[in-house]
Amino acid sequence: MSLLLQEGVIGGVTLKNRIVMPPMCMYHADQNGHPNAFHTLHYGSKALGGVGLIIVEATAIEPRGRISENDLGIWADEHVLSHRKLTAICHENGAKIAVQLAHAGRKCGCDSESPVAPSAIAFSTEAPYRVPSALTLEEIEGIKDSFVRAALRAKEADYDMVEVHGAHGYLLCEFLSPLSNRRTDSYGGTFENRCRLLLEVTKAVKDAINLPIIVRISAEEWMEDGWNIEDSIALSKVLKTAGVDVIHVSAGGNQAVTQTQPLFVPLYQADYAKRIRHEGSIPTIAVGLITTPAEGEALLMGQVCDFVAYGRALLRNPNLALAAAKEFYETDKIPASFRRGF
Ligand SMILES: Cc1cc2nc3c(=O)[nH]c(=O)nc-3n(C[C@H](O)[C@H](O)[C@H](O)COP(=O)(O)O)c2cc1C
Repeated sequence: MSLLLQEGVIGGVTLKNRIVMPPMCMYHADQNGHPNAFHTLHYGSKALGGVGLIIVEATAIEPRGRISENDLGIWADEHVLSHRKLTAICHENGAKIAVQLAHAGRKCGCDSESPVAPSAIAFSTEAPYRVPSALTLEEIEGIKDSFVRAALRAKEADYDMVEVHGAHGYLLCEFLSPLSNRRTDSYGGTFENRCRLLLEVTKAVKDAINLPIIVRISAEEWMEDGWNIEDSIALSKVLKTAGVDVIHVSAGGNQAVTQTQPLFVPLYQADYAKRIRHEGSIPTIAVGLITTPAEGEALLMGQVCDFVAYGRALLRNPNLALAAAKEFYETDKIPASFRRGF
């Protein structure tokens, strides 16, 4: 029996299979951040193609939290209606849908907005990056509030769960790393202090919406004295106690140049997902150059992860889950729950 095509549960919500579409920015929104016909087709086609869980791309919780001028947004109540079109099309086609709540921090790519970060250290000297201003304690309270308001809108728009973006060198990730966080107050210095904002955001979101929560992290920064896999395992244990349901295990993105970044070979991040799953005792989503149903199946068989995310593979073939069903059909690996999904 195929494990990839078996039902999976995240915080009480049942997915018809273990195939996840990870968040991927499409840069197709207008400056108001509303999803449009492109997004409906883009996400709807993946739902129709059999994906169990779709995680909508980085969606800004406030305008200065955009990576580009064309990011999706969920910073205003008007966004609820346009996001409902995405949740409706995915639900109609049997998929569950989450939205990635994001703040770009020092990697803000909008000329009209001023970047903010834990400390006034630029991501890079090259455009579009600028030296960010360090957030005051009062502004940090405002950021937490914006995450909560965004999560409430996500719930109102019928998302099944939310993903908090704590990876790839964006705001929450910047707080984690001692290389980008040089604060001397309660949000900087010790490991506990650097994790504080992500933890507070996660707890506040969970309390506000009581839906399943995924946190995406970069397991490794690939820099000497930077954030590493041991830190990620320790963080995952704390996130679990805060009510997080799954860790989505990515890597990199917090430094313009990294020192030890591996070659991007198939499954290059899978071992991090395995370690977090076993040593952090929390379910994981593995991601990173996983391209075939057989590879995903092997990861689940090897207890590397609980869910498998296919990013660029789904952009190439939105019917990847159907292809998996076809591939496993002949070997009688297709479970009844998957047949019901169509
Ligand atoms: C075009 C593109 C946009 C992306 N945008 C996001 C994003 O919005 N949020 C995020 O956490 N990761 C983003 N990623 C990273 C993917 O979610 C994924 O981790 C990465 O592509 C590796 O998986 P893959 O090899 O299966 O594509 C993006 C990747 C691509 C290719």
